[in-house]
Amino acid sequence: MDKNSLIYIAGHRGMVGSALWRELERRGYTNLIGRTRAEMDLCHRPAVDAFYAQHRPEYVFFAAAKVGGIHANDTYPAEFLYDNLQIQTALIDGAYRSGVKKLLFLGSSCIYPKHAPQPIPEDALLTGPLEPTNEWYAVAKIAGIKLCQAYRKQYGCDFISAMPTNLYGPNDNYHPQNSHVLPAMIRRFHEAKVGNAPTVTCWGTGQALREFLHADDLARACVFLMETYSAPGIVNIGCGSDLSIYDLAHLVAKVVGYQGEILWDTSKPDGTPRKLMDSARLFGLGWKPDIALPEGIGAAYQDFLERAATPSSAAA
Ligand SMILES: NC(=O)c1ccc[n+]([C@@H]2O[C@H](COP(=O)([O-])OP(=O)(O)OC[C@H]3O[C@@H](n4cnc5c(N)ncnc54)[C@H](OP(=O)(O)O)[C@@H]3O)[C@@H](O)[C@H]2O)c1
Repeated sequence: MDKNSLIYIAGHRGMVGSALWRELERRGYTNLIGRTRAEMDLCHRPAVDAFYAQHRPEYVFFAAAKVGGIHANDTYPAEFLYDNLQIQTALIDGAYRSGVKKLLFLGSSCIYPKHAPQPIPEDALLTGPLEPTNEWYAVAKIAGIKLCQAYRKQYGCDFISAMPTNLYGPNDNYHPQNSHVLPAMIRRFHEAKVGNAPTVTCWGTGQALREFLHADDLARACVFLMETYSAPGIVNIGCGSDLSIYDLAHLVAKVVGYQGEILWDTSKPDGTPRKLMDSARLFGLGWKPDIALPEGIGAAYQDFLERAATPSSAAA
């Protein structure tokens, strides 16, 4: 990529897309283009074709998707499968037809089998049944990976795919019901602090192990791959280590300044005991994450206070 190459970031207002935009600007890439959903619905193929024909981007970072938690996936399986297939078909086939030089597609760790070995290597893909609650989304993402590989095999397109671990960071979703575990904890501990609640109850035993990567580290990894990696194989993007949900809760409480007691409702499920990506392929290429979890959660808490806390609770 040259510093003045035209680079399209699909989903540039989302958590990942906005991190990519910041990172590319920071690195001196000056010719970035993005479209909001109101300006271009990626499910509408003619609009995507017209965009490609008019602007002819040279590079595409594919960070747009219909995303959501377990509940949304389970309730709207048709939308999760159909919308993501449409978005992927339009962006990937459109990229081929308009002569895009390189495209990076982002999948997710949910593409791997429910009982994949831990840490999860890339070659665990398609070796066993998926987690049923998000299989719709996972099947769409697997189709996206296969589209990139098929266009590389048949047409020689330089389309690559990367699989991020759990992410957090600026522009995350802090919705009380529909957010991921880390932003959900930020909201709960913040609200408990400002409401002087003596206890916060978390689900499960706290023993499940999870990995978290800051969105800015992910963006650096994506730009690194776009600049250095050209092969059909997918690449995991993680930080290489995990922690228990128990330790995460205590860390978030400390960062937020909540001093009450943390209780565990062991009647609620823990979910998969462990979910850690094997990022040896990426680390072997020469990339390492920069942002330690306490520092990253501190920055995420500032983002929450600025964007998502209700005015009364932010001021308290
Ligand atoms: N967040 C994570 O922990 C995580 C982990 C692993 C992988 N990923 C992957 O990273 C990618 C980005 O995730 P994210 O967390 O950044 O999600 P996000 O914050 O929800 O961003 C998704 C973006 O896609 C856009 N979009 C969705 N449907 C669209 C449509 N029909 N037309 C136009 N734009 C559309 C959204 O626009 P609107 O805001 O207008 O809807 C939004 O800007 C996804 O592929 C996801 O699977 C995320």
